[in-house]
Amino acid sequence: MRNIRLTSGHEIPIFGLGTWQLKGRQCERIVKEAIALGYTHIDTAWMYQNQREIGRALRDIRIDREEIFLTTKIWGTHLRHADVLAQFEECLDDLQMDYVDLLLIHHPSDSVPFAETFEAFQKLYDAGQVKSIGISNFSISQVEEACEVSELPICTNQVEYHVRRNRSELRDYCHGRGIVMTAHRPLAVGDLAGDAVLRSIGENHGKTAAQVALRWLVQQDIITIPKSGSVPHLRENLDVFAWELTDEEMHKLDTEM
Ligand SMILES: NC(=O)c1ccc[n+]([C@@H]2O[C@H](COP(=O)([O-])OP(=O)(O)OC[C@H]3O[C@@H](n4cnc5c(N)ncnc54)[C@H](OP(=O)(O)O)[C@@H]3O)[C@@H](O)[C@H]2O)c1
Repeated sequence: MRNIRLTSGHEIPIFGLGTWQLKGRQCERIVKEAIALGYTHIDTAWMYQNQREIGRALRDIRIDREEIFLTTKIWGTHLRHADVLAQFEECLDDLQMDYVDLLLIHHPSDSVPFAETFEAFQKLYDAGQVKSIGISNFSISQVEEACEVSELPICTNQVEYHVRRNRSELRDYCHGRGIVMTAHRPLAVGDLAGDAVLRSIGENHGKTAAQVALRWLVQQDIITIPKSGSVPHLRENLDVFAWELTDEEMHKLDTEM
């Protein structure tokens, strides 16, 4: 597993477990299985309503808190200063943790100025409850505005990013400002597993279509967080480091999907 250094100075594993739609007992079991396989980075959000289960799974396996990188997100209903603090307290209570590694604005707001939300994030950072901050689903102009008003460095922009939703312009803009991209829905919610072009490229390497889709992202230094509720898929998805797509294959995926 490779780490990327964020502008906060902290490191984030380039590959993580997405947890949207993982709930209850299944969520607990999958988090434990993923960690046993070597995942060390978990992506959640207040909105996913699974933080209690994630926290319980991590406590059950008695892993050191520092061994795990945990991201959570503040939902759009709670971007006012006092609401951020209240929702974040709920996150820590559910997770039963003292801090999260990364806190994101889940979606940009039309009504609450970014500066107000970032002031609350700053307070949590100063209290040691948040190690790094970031944004999610922000366009280039919204990233620009966020950078102008945040005192803390914005470490990542988490957006939908996959071969059928190539965000290279946004990636180049963010990477130029030291903001690492994070790809959510890296498998287009599973659709890419059946893609014929990905499958044929995979045949050159003895890999599956899903592995090619994920490799295309990590090969561009994009943090990648596929979700799976299946142990064989968790294992398959992790196998994207010991091999490479050729320049021609990368170009084909960049231009022909
Ligand atoms: N910030 C945001 O607004 C936002 C939005 C969406 C998602 N996210 C984050 O990004 C994560 C990933 O996105 P996502 O869950 O929407 O979609 P995704 O990771 O693109 O796809 C998940 C789907 O792909 C299937 N799958 C996983 N590995 C597979 C494989 N090797 N072969 C075939 N199918 C496979 C899963 O089924 P199985 O469970 O059966 O494996 C599941 O149905 C989320 O879980 C969440 O943490 C963030």
